Amino acid sequence: MPAGLDAIETASRDEIAALQCERFAWTLRHAYENVPHYRAAFDKAGVHPADFRDLPDIAKFPFTAKRDLRENYPFGLFAVPQAKVARIHASSGTTGKPVVAGYTQADLDVWAGLMARSIYAAGGRPGMKVHNAYGYGLFTGGLGVHYGVERLGCTVIPVSGGQTERQVQLIRDFAPEIITVTPSYLLAILDEFRARGLDPRATSLRIAILGAEPWTNAMRAEIEAGFGLDAVDIYGLSEVMGPGVAQECVETKDGLHIWEDHFFPEVIDPDTGAVLPEGERGELVFTSLTKQAMPVIRYRTRDLTRLLPGTARTMRRMEKVTGRSDDMLIVRGVNLFPSQIEEQLLASERVTGHYQIRLTREGRLDDVAVHVEARPEHFAAGGLEAEAEAIVGRIKGIIGLTVRVVIEPPGAIERSMGKARRVIDRRGIQSISGDHPAP
Ligand code: DLL
Repeated sequence: MPAGLDAIETASRDEIAALQCERFAWTLRHAYENVPHYRAAFDKAGVHPADFRDLPDIAKFPFTAKRDLRENYPFGLFAVPQAKVARIHASSGTTGKPVVAGYTQADLDVWAGLMARSIYAAGGRPGMKVHNAYGYGLFTGGLGVHYGVERLGCTVIPVSGGQTERQVQLIRDFAPEIITVTPSYLLAILDEFRARGLDPRATSLRIAILGAEPWTNAMRAEIEAGFGLDAVDIYGLSEVMGPGVAQECVETKDGLHIWEDHFFPEVIDPDTGAVLPEGERGELVFTSLTKQAMPVIRYRTRDLTRLLPGTARTMRRMEKVTGRSDDMLIVRGVNLFPSQIEEQLLASERVTGHYQIRLTREGRLDDVAVHVEARPEHFAAGGLEAEAEAIVGRIKGIIGLTVRVVIEPPGAIERSMGKARRVIDRRGIQSISGDHPAP
């Protein structure tokens, strides 16, 4: 076993399945006995925790949706008395009530352990300094990463999001090896280095652990080249825990290993709910296997991905999430994900990863304007009309959609300190920019 890995990370598939089976059975009983919502949902579906004997039996149990969390706001899905809840987090939505998550002390210990495992997989080692620019507060990013850094034996620098100039100053002064931040905000930090005439490749940073929003491999290439570091993907969601549900290993960078000893993944057809075989794309569904305060059974994340076999670890991987089912835009009948636009933009040398897709409707026709910032040196040189035309052509050729591309001056697109707002939909239907605004 490679030094520093938890034994379970390289256990056999049989060992992992046996552990999952035992923990699944416990979770079903725990939820049924302590959460009225799950008791009612199981009774309605005509299933009982005793009907679970082996992993394929999972399909008998009902899904849980975000609506169930909202209907039980704030603490209705907690399975332990309030006095046992050590911490509460929440993820605010653009509409309706926030999603609330509760943790016992044991849940927080598991979380810190899984975050430590994630940072290790990303290449972090005890003694390194970690600049944590995820937002602190109700958002799970800041505190979730924080305790994992400490658990691994690293030094945490709890900067939180915002004050970009100060971010740059602290990176220079404190010389961290690792930065944890959303990819879109790291781009803003990169710009700040350049705006101050500083060489971003000259910093101490070696590893960036990026997540909380979709980002493409094109964006990875941009960030890695900009800072001269390794950028790896971290995934998680408040409903299931927070950051550290799955993590990409720096040695393979081939998708995210799901920490299957604590979360059971499934991928389903979002329309029919049918469980899809490994390798097929669909909606990711999670069951927590050890959570005490707020177990979740077959929670529909709305994130689109596929499951793949393990590589650097025996635990299965999920492919990079490039969109959510509710991020998908339907424009003149064509399905469009912001990540598809991102890839085509970043194929251009002259523009940056700061972009926004603005949709309006003229009469019956949808208009899509893709606003993207020019790189400063190219903006000064001018002649960007031809570049905009070239991007229009690529988007038309690959996605099959005619859009307008507007190349803006550097700094023109709104910056977010956390999750970027990629879509503004003014077609008279509700904004589809996702449930999760900047934390
Ligand atoms: O974003 C937890 C987190 C914090 C993950 C820091 C990674 C780093 P929520 O605010 O509840 O939790 O948002 C969860 O964000 O369902 C995905 O749609 C999206 N998301 C999170 N990580 C990724 C990722 C945190 N690596 C929602 N790639 C999830 C794509 C991601 N989308």
